[in-house]
Amino acid sequence: MESKIDLPRRNAHPRCRPVYGTMATMKSNFQANCVFNGDCVEGMKRISAKSVDLVITDPPFGIEFKAKRENYNRKGSRVLEGYNEVHENDYLTFTHNWMSEVKRVLKESGSMFVFSGWNNLKDILITLDDLGFITVNHLVWKYQFGVVTSRKFVTSHYHCLYVCLDDKKRKFFPYSRFDKKEKNKNGSSLSYLDREDVWVINREYWTGDVKTPTKLPAEIIRKILAYSSEKEDVVLDPFLGSGQVAVVSKMEGRQYIGFEIVKEYYDFINERLTKNLYRIKDKTTKPSKSSK
Ligand SMILES: C[S@@+](CC[C@H](N)C(=O)[O-])C[C@H]1O[C@@H](n2cnc3c(N)ncnc32)[C@H](O)[C@@H]1O
Repeated sequence: MESKIDLPRRNAHPRCRPVYGTMATMKSNFQANCVFNGDCVEGMKRISAKSVDLVITDPPFGIEFKAKRENYNRKGSRVLEGYNEVHENDYLTFTHNWMSEVKRVLKESGSMFVFSGWNNLKDILITLDDLGFITVNHLVWKYQFGVVTSRKFVTSHYHCLYVCLDDKKRKFFPYSRFDKKEKNKNGSSLSYLDREDVWVINREYWTGDVKTPTKLPAEIIRKILAYSSEKEDVVLDPFLGSGQVAVVSKMEGRQYIGFEIVKEYYDFINERLTKNLYRIKDKTTKPSKSSK
């Protein structure tokens, strides 16, 4: 399935025209609606201070993760390989380096949502504290299928740290998704339920389409955008992967900027943004017997 992105009208404005490139093409001043192929720490140094409204990011896991098709039960579609991993021993320094740049570029009214598995959560928490970020919520994302285990419990959640620099200035729109008075059939407030700190959101399986191995579902990004940003706000993802944060931000009328170090992933992001496609058919896949 190839879904069209509903292009916001403002993209006609030259300032908002999508730009793609290597780091060498990035000017020294900030450009919105750009994605870059390169290291995010170097890239963020070229973004002006206090110019980003919202950061949504899912950094590499630090568990020597290998993006290989055989790690996944995903026959019949192409998983792009080449995920750039960080060694466990370097994870604290790595986290400190990228988060320091986020702190510099974030507006006082801005927020950051950082996703993390439990393995390196301590390094994320230590760094957030060291850099003086204020924790607003420690969210849990519960997804539908974890990796099957036989001698321990199945991990089927992710952590998401919602943090800010100034709790009084931080943007939050509590009734952006449900009106104060909206109730479900049991009489419970929909706004209350939607704002509980455990989010049950399914992962997306893009069977038959090109994909990267670890992507955030569009619904989780939409939810964060709705509560913590407004139209035209600038959303940054230093670790784009498949480009979900940039693509969904564009669909929701936000401006975006981001980095991805792996060229093959970056090309995929580029294709999604330039063609305004949410999913891209894998032309190398042979149709299965049942789909004939
Ligand atoms: C967990 S994935 C992000 C997945 C993404 N949230 C999505 O929805 O597709 C982390 C990504 O960061 C990239 N990466 C690792 N180190 C990087 C760096 N120094 N700068 C930019 N990207 C990097 C990896 O190649 C990987 O694609």
